[in-house]
Order: sequence, then C-alpha cells, then structure tokens
Amino acid sequence: MSKQTELPEAYRTMTPEACKDVIRRRKAELGERLAILAHHYQRKELVPFGDYLGDSYALSAKAAAQKEVRYIVFCGVHFMAESADILSGPDQRVYLPNPYAGCPMADMAPEAQVLRAWEQLGDVVDSAGVIPISYMNSTARLKAFTGRNGGLICTSSNADKAFDYAFSRGERIFFFPDQHLGRNTANAKEIPRKQVVLWDPAKPQGGHDAETLRQARVILWKGHCHVHMNFSLEHIEARRAEYPDVKIIVHPECREEVVDAADASGSTKQIIEYLKRQPAGSAIAIGTELNLVSRMIDEFPDHTILPLQRDACPMCVNMFRTTLNDLAYTLDVLEEGGGNIIRVDEPVRGEALLALERMLELN
Ligand code: 13P
Ligand code: SF4
Repeated sequence: MSKQTELPEAYRTMTPEACKDVIRRRKAELGERLAILAHHYQRKELVPFGDYLGDSYALSAKAAAQKEVRYIVFCGVHFMAESADILSGPDQRVYLPNPYAGCPMADMAPEAQVLRAWEQLGDVVDSAGVIPISYMNSTARLKAFTGRNGGLICTSSNADKAFDYAFSRGERIFFFPDQHLGRNTANAKEIPRKQVVLWDPAKPQGGHDAETLRQARVILWKGHCHVHMNFSLEHIEARRAEYPDVKIIVHPECREEVVDAADASGSTKQIIEYLKRQPAGSAIAIGTELNLVSRMIDEFPDHTILPLQRDACPMCVNMFRTTLNDLAYTLDVLEEGGGNIIRVDEPVRGEALLALERMLELN
C-alpha cells in the first residue's frame, strides 16, 4: 500500500539545514516510538540520522526485533521496507520515505514468469526435491512463492548457509533472482560447472533440454544488478598494476570472474568489517556502490580506499532517491496517517514470513 506520490512543495523546497532541524526535532518528539533503519548505500547526509545502519540482513533482523517501536522508517529500497513490514507486528507501521526507491533486480523475477518456470521444471524433475532460495532483493510475492514451496530467503551475507539448508532438504536449488550471487555461492561450494544452469524465462524450459535440467543441482534465474555488472576483470588488473599490494574486495552481486580475481567478497557490512581488519596504511579497492565507497574514504583516513572502477564508480540511483526532504516529510506526517506506508497483505505476508523466518533461523 503506497499512499504518498509527490513530496509537497513546502518540503520539496526545504533547505538541507531546515530538513535536518525537522528530523532532529521529530526524532526527539517520537522518541522510542520511532526507529530509522538506513542501508549502507544511503546518501552520506542521511546516514547520521539512522538509528541503525546496516546491510540487508542486519536491517531485516533489526526490523524483526523492534517489537516495541510504532513507526519503522526504512531509508533503503522497496523490497527492504516490504521485508520489514512482513517481519514487524500488526500494530507497527513501516515507511519508505521515497515511493520511487525500487530495485530493478527485484523486478526481474515477476511472479507469473516464476510460476511458469516452476511448472515447466516440474514437468522434468520432481518439484518436491527442488528448494527455492530467493535473494532478499525480491518482491514479497516471490518471497511468498519461496515460503510455500519449502524454501527460504538469503542475503549476500548468508547465501552459503542457505545453500546448506536447501541441500539438506532437497537435491536441487532454484535460485532467484540474482544469477551472480547464486553462481558465486555455487562456485564457493565447488559444485561442478555443468550442474549449474541459467534459466532464461524468455525460452521454453529456460533454454535447456530435459537431460540438462535433470543433471542440474543449481538452477539460476536470469537476473542481475546493473550497478554491480559494471565491474570487470580489467578494473581489477588496472588496480593491481597501479598498486601492487592492493587488496580487492567486491560485492558478490559482481560477475564470477570479478569475484574470483578479488581477494575477498562480502555483503556491505562484511566489506566494512574487512576494511577494519586491514593494517593502517593498506590500499584497498572496493567493488561496490559509490555512496558506500565514498563514505569509507572518509571513515578510514589511515587507509588508501579506492573505488575499484577508477573513473566512474557506479551509483545505485534508487538508493540515492531518498533525500533529507523525504525523511523530514515522513517524520512530520506519520502520526497523522501520512507518508508512504508499505503494507504487505495476507496471504502473501504469511507465506513470505515463513521464508524470511527460515533465513533468520540460519543465523
Ligand atoms: P547487502 O545485503 O550487502 O547490504 O546488499 C544489498 C544490496 O542491494 C546490494 O546491491
Ligand atoms: Fe538493487 Fe543493485 Fe541497487 Fe542493490 S545496488 S538496491 S541490487 S539496483
């Protein structure tokens, strides 16, 4: 349920300092009734206003734990606020301050296509032995499909454990929607390449003959993150040529050749933890979104922090949509029923909750 569309003029034209005053005042007035969750890719000026700053997993766990809070304001993208709503209680309200902050990857696995694929796969192999895993970056409807078919949600910080969970209950994984996180996780598990296949929803049977599908242990949905697709092996080679001792860490939404050539890969939180573990004076190149990289440059003055892509670190425009103005407006109007409320209704909510809870139990 999204009510707000455009920001009213008075808030659209508010100066950054005036927005900050509103946010500080409203945070003080709302006290413990309010929790602001902020993802690591948020704009620099917004980050200090987050009560919790984290990766997708940490923020979903926070949303699940905030039972006493009345208003959860999620500075992130739509799938994150949806997940927070599913995990929160019936008396809590979740807000996405900017209604246009979506995630193109989450939209790459529409329910109708997924149901068709599931049916086609079921004509070839026994569906009871196929465990769906959906990346957190997915719609609530895909999470619900996952829950009712015995599967679970994962994030980039626990995909490995999600694979173990799935293989303890079935022979095959159908992984949605990020092929790269799925492939990188399968590679780390040393699953033979010919047992990992890409399902193209535009082709009958995903583009495979029956025998190939019967041999497959991991079936990857053909989705990707356009931000992380920017990184290439050439960027890694160029950074290593410039800084011979450089350490390279990338997000697992990058292509496999990038993850394989890096020194490490991990979620946004794991990237920050990696930086903390490096000795002072280290040069570290990071293959992820611009706002996180530029904040790390400020936060680690003793390191040489470099964007992996030298000339144009890619930015997630959807994460960037949420402004101080959006947050000020949301905090001002939420008590009177305004703001962009995100609500997932039954039966989607209950089925999606099953899949999310299976993930939370992994940790
Ligand atoms: P994290 O779970 O690493 O925070 O990633 C979320 C995301 O959208 C990365 O593109
Ligand atoms: Fe979605 Fe990619 Fe942006 Fe993450 S960085 S929110 S996966 S578009």
